[in-house]
Amino acid sequence: MSKREHWSGRILFILAAAGSAIGLGNLWKFPYISWANGGGLFVLLYIFFIILLGLPIMISEIAMGKATGTGPAGAFRALGGQKTPFRFVGYLGVATALLLLSYYSVVAGWSLEYTAKAIGGEFESIPPAKLEQLAQSEAGIQALQTKALKQEIAFATDSQKEEILRDSGLLQANLRDDEMQILFRNSAEKIPALLLEKGKADEWGTIFLNKVQSSEDFVAWRQEALKPLHSDTMFADFLSDKTKLITWHSVIMLITILIVAGGIKGGIENAMKIFMPLLFIIIIFLTINSLLLDKEQEGLRFLLWGDPSRFSAKSIVEALGHAFFSLSLGMGVMITYGSYMGRGNHAVKDSIWIVSADTFVSISATLMIFPIIFVYGMQPTSGGAGILFTALPLELVKFPGKSLFVFIFYILVFIAAITSAISLIEVVVTYLIDEKKMKRYHAALSAGIFIYLLGIPSALWISGFFTRLDFLVSNILLPFGGLLIAIFAGWVAEQKAIENEFHAKGIPAWTFAVYRFVLRIITPVLFAAVFGHLLLSAG
Ligand code: TRP
Repeated sequence: MSKREHWSGRILFILAAAGSAIGLGNLWKFPYISWANGGGLFVLLYIFFIILLGLPIMISEIAMGKATGTGPAGAFRALGGQKTPFRFVGYLGVATALLLLSYYSVVAGWSLEYTAKAIGGEFESIPPAKLEQLAQSEAGIQALQTKALKQEIAFATDSQKEEILRDSGLLQANLRDDEMQILFRNSAEKIPALLLEKGKADEWGTIFLNKVQSSEDFVAWRQEALKPLHSDTMFADFLSDKTKLITWHSVIMLITILIVAGGIKGGIENAMKIFMPLLFIIIIFLTINSLLLDKEQEGLRFLLWGDPSRFSAKSIVEALGHAFFSLSLGMGVMITYGSYMGRGNHAVKDSIWIVSADTFVSISATLMIFPIIFVYGMQPTSGGAGILFTALPLELVKFPGKSLFVFIFYILVFIAAITSAISLIEVVVTYLIDEKKMKRYHAALSAGIFIYLLGIPSALWISGFFTRLDFLVSNILLPFGGLLIAIFAGWVAEQKAIENEFHAKGIPAWTFAVYRFVLRIITPVLFAAVFGHLLLSAG
């Protein structure tokens, strides 16, 4: 057996593992499923699963890899005996990786489309024909009226003010003029929403829109007012363009195959030294920008308290499943990464770093997206699988680099997706090389083509096929794989190898007992409760 190449240095291992973990799961999926499941409780539950299940299973996978120096199949045999039934977890992982990458690649393709759109300057202004079309549409008229209403309401005449107060149901008794003025000023913020509720928004919107229309800078004003709607329709148009979706999916798979076949994976991992910090800096910058933009802190409030009416039994399973998806767990990816780990690395400490970095990116991503949705009054279409793409360009083009900034952002999304895709295809490639004795080049090509074909239905039927496949993979297959790994590491595997990882400066000895208790008892019980609950509520 040839000696395994080791990651040069502790940081490189953490970067590579974080590169697998941080991807579309954090930037694209977490914000949109948090939005769809009503924020608040969902986010809290997600963090709970990350700490209670994610961290211990991350430690287990990395420790198994480090202790045995082999990929999943070998690690299960080395720690559980040649004939251990757990070696089938490896096959489950291969099947899951094939399915996951098939649609992951489709979504990764979206980032390339947006990179291309940035090069074409498409976010800077709405083309004239498109602008007219939007302005005539029902949604367009509504957007214009709402903006006019919000902006002009403060300049209404006194008799208009009184009528507006009456129409929004705020004026009950007859007030003195100065009292009426005060009431108006104090409720100005909520009046547009109240008028909408009472069915009077249209009427007042038309009045104020007429006023704006006669102003000199109406042309520019209308451009601005229609941008959020334009952003939404741009995304919807893209999703209905099947040729584009398939093309980008092909490009992503081609790049993934070339990187893995060409053995330049190491080079990519080195490049992570630049891209990872850049991604963090940009995310932090955009998060601060969004929080400052959102004077009412509606985005933050939604993240913390949210809308409980959107939370259901399915939300619990989604929070649990996403903990595995986001951390790249349940498939043996981290076993493989751990097998390249050097002596200087430490499974427990490194896991804490990877898990923290991953969670940080997820939370920041929501904090940079939600405020924009509120401030621009966007209407993310059902579930809003596109909020990473519809919301951000509106803010990104405002910075001095304009399109350049949009370009940089989506290129970073693309890189984050590619480093995750590499770790996924690597599961299949390693299997083909080790078990089927294929050459690397051959293995990468056949795995890649197979996954590419598997991804076509996802590109063609985004809402139907794709969401169901994602549910199966994220919420059933990955957690199930994770459960098996937890049971193996807790009950079956030789404990010495794993326990060693807990002998380090700064890690108290009792943590190993807690860790083992979580794997042995808490994890299976929690799984039984969560999935039992899902079955009962579905039946
Ligand atoms: N964690 C990645 C993300 O959040 C996706 C991913 C890469 C993954 N490799 C994995 C998920 C292995 C599960 C298992 O985008």
